[in-house]
Amino acid sequence: MRQEGAVNPSNHSSAIVVVENLVKRFGGFTALNDVHLTVAKGEKIVLCGPSGSGKSTLIRCINHIEKHDGGRIVVDGVELVNRMADINSVRCEVGMVFQSFNLFPHLSVVENCMLAPMKVRGLSRPEAHERAMGLLRKVRIHGQADKYPAQLSGGQQQRVAIARALCMQPKIMLFDEPTSALDPEMVKEVLDTMVQLAGEGMTMVCVTHEIGFAREVADRVVFMDQGSIVEEGEPASFFSSPRTERAKGFLNQIIH
Ligand SMILES: Nc1ncnc2c1ncn2[C@@H]1O[C@H](COP(=O)(O)OP(=O)(O)OP(=O)(O)O)[C@@H](O)[C@H]1O
Ligand SMILES: [Mg+2]
Repeated sequence: MRQEGAVNPSNHSSAIVVVENLVKRFGGFTALNDVHLTVAKGEKIVLCGPSGSGKSTLIRCINHIEKHDGGRIVVDGVELVNRMADINSVRCEVGMVFQSFNLFPHLSVVENCMLAPMKVRGLSRPEAHERAMGLLRKVRIHGQADKYPAQLSGGQQQRVAIARALCMQPKIMLFDEPTSALDPEMVKEVLDTMVQLAGEGMTMVCVTHEIGFAREVADRVVFMDQGSIVEEGEPASFFSSPRTERAKGFLNQIIH
């Protein structure tokens, strides 16, 4: 039995995220119930599970977009309580990519990427521009740097969103269904970018039902249902022989 307050970040020397006994409620509804998750530096985790199981809520709590109601979250040695200074410092280290891109429509692609490094990291304009162009080149979109988001395809916008997050030089990247709003022909270009990032050693937690990606990249698949982690394992064993009935039922629905 784990005890309240038993997490000591120094006991998890290779852990960049430690989630213990996490509880999140929306009014009377419990969206996350006693969730435990440790993410090691460099680890790639794929989070999957049925709609409403709490996947987005969990990664939103890690980034403190949602306030949790119980348990502990430690990111890079900083416990996330509701102190604004801590929240801001953690958000600098945690990059987040959403299903719906969330680029600033009134800023060009390169300006989207320059904004936070200038405002939050204190980079000068030329420094921020150089960094932004480097990362736009990495996601193969530097030719579009002066366009506005609405002038790009969905796949291109999502690659800009990834470059924008990387411009903050985060220690971990969280992805919430980054390809599920894309037309099928654009999914691959975004997944390729994510595979490349994984190959460079980035720590990643990805909510996705892209099984090919999970098999290729994930060290661990974490399966959630009804606000709890129900099963976890290496992709090969999870996808071919899930242990729980709930995971079996879920995989039957998504694998055709
Ligand atoms: N702001 C909110 N207010 C009330 N309930 C919420 C809120 N956000 C999420 N929920 C509820 O919490 C539960 C978990 O939601 P969450 O978005 O984390 O699920 P999910 O696993 O990401 O689902 P999906 O696969 O559909 O994205 C759902 O029942 C959802 O309705
Ligand atoms: Mg979700």
